[in-house]
Amino acid sequence: MSDSHANLNKGAKDLPRCPFPVPMGWYFVDYSENLAKEEIRNVNLLDQEWVLFRGETGKVGMTDPYCPHLGAHMGHGGKVCGDNIRCPFHHWQFDSEGWNKDIPYAKVTPPICKKQPILRALPVEEKWGMIWCWYHPKGEAPKWELPSVPELEDTENHVKPHRGEWETGTAVQEIAENGVDFAHLKFLHGEKEIPPAEYSFDWPHYDVNMNNGYIVGRMHGPGLNVYRFSHEGVTATMVNYTTPMTADSSVIRMSFTHKKYEEGTKEAMIAQHLVQHMVGEADGKDSAGFESVDFIVWNHKKYRPNPLLCDGDGPIIQYRKFFSKFYEGSGYAE
Ligand code: FES
Ligand SMILES: [Fe+2]
Repeated sequence: MSDSHANLNKGAKDLPRCPFPVPMGWYFVDYSENLAKEEIRNVNLLDQEWVLFRGETGKVGMTDPYCPHLGAHMGHGGKVCGDNIRCPFHHWQFDSEGWNKDIPYAKVTPPICKKQPILRALPVEEKWGMIWCWYHPKGEAPKWELPSVPELEDTENHVKPHRGEWETGTAVQEIAENGVDFAHLKFLHGEKEIPPAEYSFDWPHYDVNMNNGYIVGRMHGPGLNVYRFSHEGVTATMVNYTTPMTADSSVIRMSFTHKKYEEGTKEAMIAQHLVQHMVGEADGKDSAGFESVDFIVWNHKKYRPNPLLCDGDGPIIQYRKFFSKFYEGSGYAE
């Protein structure tokens, strides 16, 4: 037994369940239709409070709620003015990048206001009818862009995505580890065999091909995965986006879509079946439905920093090494 495994039989009482900080990445905040013009909303995600607002022109901002002046909470009594948020206490205004735009009673604006944003603001993008934010523990600029997902962009030729949402009691690293844990697909999900898989890591991407092209997936950082399930020339797409809420809770959301096929055709039936398999409701129950099985494990497990693995396990250690780069800047290292 190696040194790192010497403690395995001492018990896990003192192990934290989820020792991770929030990893850097693009994260889903809300669907665009849920935030109206001039609306301000308090949101708790990424293990802290934020204020989310949409300006008069439609521009979205997501900032620290506590005013840099005297600390009022702008999500309680604040107002949208143009594309700025205005603090209720002394009416200082900030734009969606955190620049101070107005101090209505100051003869001389503090010089720092001209030099840099003074309110922490996250980069925000709206894509596929969704609001996304970029999070980095030190506030650094995005390290990668949101990808193109043609199935969500070409709405004319694809069915309106079917959406799902699940709350779970674990961290995003643990959820994403499922994507490399091929053995659990047989034992927890009830697949007939452990699927053959090819994979590669190229930070911030992880690519996987399971069952010889049946499932082809790509992870774009911790907050977004695109999986395509194909059968007899028909492909259905599962876009999976997870938002860390607190250190040990996350919300998993998914959008499922495929090309529009005439009702009753063989293609339409295959597409429907693929979507059912993705959601976990396939006939014959060779898929058990991830919410009923993965969650039982995720919501109660503890993270083993030095797991005891065997030769049939997927590339768990490689994955963890790859994932640790998303914590750069957070001071966390395994
Ligand atoms: S505390 Fe916000 S303007 Fe004074
Ligand atoms: Fe799973």
